[in-house]
Amino acid sequence: MSQNSSKVVIITGAGAGIGKATAKAFVNAGYRVVLAGRQLDKLEQAIVDIGGNTENTLAQRCDVGDPDSVKQLFDATQRQFGRLDVLFNNAGVSAPAVSIETLTYAQWQSVVDTNLTGAFLCAQAAIKMMKSQNPQGGRIINNGSISAHAPRPMSAPYTATKHAITGLTKSIALDGRAYRIACSQIDIGNAATEMTERMAAGILQADGSTKVEPRMDVNHVAESVLQIAEMPLESNVLFMTIMATSMPYVGRG
Ligand SMILES: NC(=O)c1ccc[n+]([C@@H]2O[C@H](COP(=O)([O-])OP(=O)(O)OC[C@H]3O[C@@H](n4cnc5c(N)ncnc54)[C@H](OP(=O)(O)O)[C@@H]3O)[C@@H](O)[C@H]2O)c1
Repeated sequence: MSQNSSKVVIITGAGAGIGKATAKAFVNAGYRVVLAGRQLDKLEQAIVDIGGNTENTLAQRCDVGDPDSVKQLFDATQRQFGRLDVLFNNAGVSAPAVSIETLTYAQWQSVVDTNLTGAFLCAQAAIKMMKSQNPQGGRIINNGSISAHAPRPMSAPYTATKHAITGLTKSIALDGRAYRIACSQIDIGNAATEMTERMAAGILQADGSTKVEPRMDVNHVAESVLQIAEMPLESNVLFMTIMATSMPYVGRG
């Protein structure tokens, strides 16, 4: 066990992709890890896959867009582990790539509920715990995106919510100062997960063409999240961009 064996992290969207890879990195680093997501069976399977056990992991069903569900997640964490050192606000979804005028209200709202309201509700509950615990403080890491900087075609809900995450990150970083609460944002580009499978198959570009885009191993993202979490609270990585080296972004293509 490392010197961080007593630290507690909540990871939302931990049943797959970046969340699951990050849960593995934290378990291996000696953290106690709460894995949250809407499908309990996926979380329980993730714990088996990453080599977790009943001492160092907890699977908790949670829809981050539902205030009652978020309350249950943080109550369960308090009961099981007694404190919270890190929240990785990772759960996220995108909408079908359709034009703005054909996007339904339900499609818009479901992305806002998970990507923005969900991140807010979890941060709110985390801040309550971090303010009142002893020793006080903790770290919130928000999962942004390259889409927090530049949109893909036909991605208004995803792009709008990821830009909004930047505002949430800055607000928490400012309001958290007095309570030893640090807040970071990790902006990821093309990690190989279920969400980015369409990039390997060919994805719509700004010029109307469809191109296969390079992706990177998701474990590089997980190691970066862990690296941020391992910093002492006096230091913060406010923004980090981690991307597949050759993906279109820098140079406007
Ligand atoms: N992969 C990339 O290259 C990339 C790039 C930029 C940003 N990101 C961001 O990284 C995050 C994770 O992406 P990923 O690629 O790992 O996606 P993924 O493989 O689709 O995993 C997303 C996870 O979020 C969970 N989730 C979705 N809605 C939820 C909700 N309302 N409440 C709780 N959990 C929910 C899903 O589990 P359940 O369905 O069981 O709830 C799933 O485990 C997202 O915020 C995404 O925007 C990814």
